[in-house]
Amino acid sequence: MEDPIRRHPTRAEQLDIVATAIADLARPGDGVLDLGCGTGYLGHLLRQRRGDLRYVGVDRKGESLAAAAANLAPWGDAARLVEGDLDAIAAIAGLEGPWRAIVTVLTFHDLDDQAKARTIGWAARHLAPGGVFLLYDRIRLTEPALFPLQQSLWARLERIHGEGMRTAADFAAYEHDLGTDNRPATLADYAAWFAAAGLAFQPLHLHGNIAVMAGAV
Ligand SMILES: C[S@@+](CC[C@H](N)C(=O)[O-])C[C@H]1O[C@@H](n2cnc3c(N)ncnc32)[C@H](O)[C@@H]1O
Repeated sequence: MEDPIRRHPTRAEQLDIVATAIADLARPGDGVLDLGCGTGYLGHLLRQRRGDLRYVGVDRKGESLAAAAANLAPWGDAARLVEGDLDAIAAIAGLEGPWRAIVTVLTFHDLDDQAKARTIGWAARHLAPGGVFLLYDRIRLTEPALFPLQQSLWARLERIHGEGMRTAADFAAYEHDLGTDNRPATLADYAAWFAAAGLAFQPLHLHGNIAVMAGAV
């Protein structure tokens, strides 16, 4: 399966970190819940590392779930796909768990801040003992004086990989691009929401404005 989001040079490494962390932690038969699974690329990576787990992917887009069903066919009955809206995760049936790992990749920037905090709280309540919550997403930049450094990171990635990421000409343009389908939260917001949910918080990998964050009860 090809990565559906190829124009993103740091993604391969960060996805590898997420999939490897889950593969190292999980015991045979453990369940992994993927919030905003899209076409199932993380499930595909997990299956390459650990064929003995159970995987459930949730997304609100039926067509993505149909593609995920085809992509994850090698999982057989060990993979299940659920259509549902993370704006109201508690109302989605079939996600009871408890889960060894709850993971979400490049999806939280689509949720408003209340839904982000609510979903983190829900995840904390549905982890198995020793389980982890892994949140991989863009984080919000707030310091105009430091924006040239982020631009330097983007330019460096483009030089190395021959393709770039979502970028902006200046901080005003960056802020202008924020909106209902692009509302990343700051690292400080995430730290506070994890703490409010009773989760220990630690960034696992940070590259400019893209973070892999981990929480555990
Ligand atoms: C950028 S894609 C990432 C997909 C996948 N995690 C990946 O990395 O390949 C974001 C996904 O989140 C889903 N999504 C966004 N908001 C959602 C919501 N409120 N409820 C459920 N799914 C949502 C979208 O439908 C989309 O499939």
